Amino acid sequence: MAAKALYLLQILSVVIGMPEVETVSVNTNIGIINGLEEDVTFLGKSSKIHKFLGIPFAEPPIGKLRFQNPVPKSPLEEPLDAFKHNNVCLQMLGLLDSKRLTYDEDCLYLNIYAPERKPEDKLLPVMVWIYGGGFTIGFPDMYIGDHLATQGNVIVVTTNYRLSVWGFLTTGDKIAPGNYGLWDQHMAIKWVHDNIAAFGGDTEKVTIFGESAGSSSVMYQALYPGNKGLFHRVIGQSGSVGNFWVTNEKNSENAKHLGALAECETENSEALVSCLQEVSADLLVEFVTNATYGLISYPFPFLPTVDGKFVTTDPKHIFDKSDLPTEVKEIFSSLDIISGVNSGEGSIGLSPFAGVADAAEFSPNKTYFEETLVPLMIKICLGENVPRIATDAVVGEYTNWDNPDDYNNIRDEYVSMWGDVSFNTDLYKTLDKHSNVSTSQHTYMYVFDINPEFNGFLYPVPRFKKLRHAYDLPFVFGFKKPDQLEEKFHVSPSRWEERLSADIMTLWTNFAKTGNPNSPEDLGLDWVPYTQKQQHFLQISRDMTSSNVKQRWNARRANFWINLLPKIITSAVCEAEKCSDHLNRGTCAKDQKCSPSP
Ligand SMILES: *[C@@H]1O[C@H](CO)[C@@H](O)[C@H](O)[C@H]1NC(C)=O
Ligand SMILES: *[C@@H]1O[C@H](CO)[C@@H](O)[C@H](O)[C@H]1NC(C)=O
Ligand SMILES: *[C@@H]1O[C@H](CO)[C@@H](O)[C@H](O)[C@H]1NC(C)=O
Repeated sequence: MAAKALYLLQILSVVIGMPEVETVSVNTNIGIINGLEEDVTFLGKSSKIHKFLGIPFAEPPIGKLRFQNPVPKSPLEEPLDAFKHNNVCLQMLGLLDSKRLTYDEDCLYLNIYAPERKPEDKLLPVMVWIYGGGFTIGFPDMYIGDHLATQGNVIVVTTNYRLSVWGFLTTGDKIAPGNYGLWDQHMAIKWVHDNIAAFGGDTEKVTIFGESAGSSSVMYQALYPGNKGLFHRVIGQSGSVGNFWVTNEKNSENAKHLGALAECETENSEALVSCLQEVSADLLVEFVTNATYGLISYPFPFLPTVDGKFVTTDPKHIFDKSDLPTEVKEIFSSLDIISGVNSGEGSIGLSPFAGVADAAEFSPNKTYFEETLVPLMIKICLGENVPRIATDAVVGEYTNWDNPDDYNNIRDEYVSMWGDVSFNTDLYKTLDKHSNVSTSQHTYMYVFDINPEFNGFLYPVPRFKKLRHAYDLPFVFGFKKPDQLEEKFHVSPSRWEERLSADIMTLWTNFAKTGNPNSPEDLGLDWVPYTQKQQHFLQISRDMTSSNVKQRWNARRANFWINLLPKIITSAVCEAEKCSDHLNRGTCAKDQKCSPSP
C-alpha cells in the first residue's frame, strides 16, 4: 500500500490560472486529488509545502442525512482540485463570522498539509487536528498547518465536524441518538488511515490533537474502541471528557424546544426528527444563536451525550470509576498522551456566560463572591440542589487568607476557581487514569505558563498576567494567520514568542514521531513522564531548561475537587437522609451511612 502510494506520488508542475503556482497530484483510494505547492518561511527557514484543501470525506449531511451518522464519500468521478478550503459548518452567529467564510450544512471536508519530500524518503508521521469551540463554533481553516508541518516534518491534517444542533441533536433514543459530530471526527480519522499513505504519511504514526472542545474530542476518540489501530497518540490541550461543559443532560429537552418552535410534533421522536430534517437551515442557525446567547440551558444547548454506541459511559464520571470498561481500557491504555492546560484558563470566568458582564470593571467584594458568584458556579458546574456546605467549602478554599477582603485577591481566587473547575481538575483525573493503565508509560503533563506579549488572539483583550484559554493555539501553529480571518487575528508575536513556538512545535512533533517529546530532537528539557504518585509536569515558559520539569502543580486544589468536595457533598446529602449520586462518588447505605463507590 505505502510503496504503491509512494510510486504514485508525482509532481506535475502544471501552471494553472495564477502564474508561478505549481500543482501536485496524488492518487488515493478514492481517486486523483490535485493540490498546490507553496513556499513557507518560518524563523528565516524556507521550505516547500503541498496543500490539499477541502477534500470531502463524507457525503454532504443534508436532507435525510441531517441528524444521521456520516456516510463515507463515494469515490471521486473525476480528479478533485483541492485548492481551497471548503465550507465552514453551520454554527451560531456572532463570534467567528467573516465575510470571507462560506457557512453551509454541506461541510464534511478535511485539509492536508504535507512537507515536500522525495519519493525515497521515509513516510512521515501524521497529526490530525480537531478544532475547539465548545462543540458549538469553530472551523479547521483557522489553523493553517504550514509552519507546524514544515518545522516538524510531519503531515498535518485539519478536519471539519458538525457542531451544535447539526452535530449533537438527540431525542434520547434510537431515532436520533446524537454525537454525529463525534462520528464525523471518527470518519475523518478513518479516512486518514485509509488514504494518507498516498500523501507520504505513515499510518503507524498517527497522532490526533486538539484544544478545548477539540481536546475533549480527542479524549472521546481515545475512549472509543472502534478507533483501535487508527491512531496511536493524542495531545489534549485544555479539555477532557469529564469537564462540566462537554455534555448536557438537557440535550433532548432542547430538541423538543426546537421542535415546538418549528411547529413539529414533539412527543413522537420519529415525527420530530423527520420534521426537523425539513426545517430551514436559517431557522436552526437562529435557534442555536438565541439558545447559546440566551442561556436557556447552560452548558451549550447541544453537546455530546451517552448514546450507547460511541459514548457508553457517563463521560463526567468515567475516570472516577476504579476500572474502565474492558474494550475502552484496551484502546486507552495503548495510546501515548500529552495533556495540559494554560496557567490562566480561569479567565473564561471573566465573561458574560459565567456571570461577569464586564471583565475590565470586575472587582467583586467578598459578599458578592460568597453569595452570588460561588453559588452560580456551583449551579452551573455541579448542578441544582447541591447542599449549601459545598458553597462554604469552596469559599473557604478560594479565599486568600492573607488578605481576604482585597478586591484583587478576590478576583484572582475567582479566576483560579473557574480554571480548576473547568479544566484543571479533569486534567489530573485523565492523567491519573492514563498513567495507571498505560502500557508504554508515555503520559506527559504540561502547564503553559507565560505572560504573553503578543497582542491578543482572535480578539484584542485586556491584559491578563497569565496565559488565557486558547492562547496556546498560535504557538502550536507557529503564529500562521489564516487568510480568511486576517482581519480578526490580532497576533504579532515577539521574537522570544516565535522561538518558544518553534520549541513547542518540536516537542509536539517529537511526540508524534516517537511517543516521547524529548526525542529525536533533544531540547535538553528531560520532560519526565507523569505518574499519579510523582505528578511531573513541564512548565512551558520563556527560556525553558530542565528545571522547568516540576512536580505537583496545583495539587492541593486538585485534591479539593477530586477527593474532598465530593465527600463533603455526599455526607451532607446522606445526613439529610436523602440518597443521591450527585457526583456519582458515593451512595447511602440503608443505615444512611455513606460508603464510597467501589
Ligand atoms: C430569536 O430571538 C429573537 C429576539 O428575541 C426572536 O425575535 C426570534 O423569534 C428568536 N428566534 C428563534 C428561532 O428562536
Ligand atoms: C458588593 O457588591 C455587590 C455587587 O456589586 C453590591 O451590590 C454590594 O452593594 C456590595 N457590597 C458592599 C458591602 O460593598
Ligand atoms: C491508580 O492505581 C493506584 C494503585 O493501584 C490506585 O490506588 C489509584 O486509585 C489508581 N488511580 C486511578 C485514577 O485509577
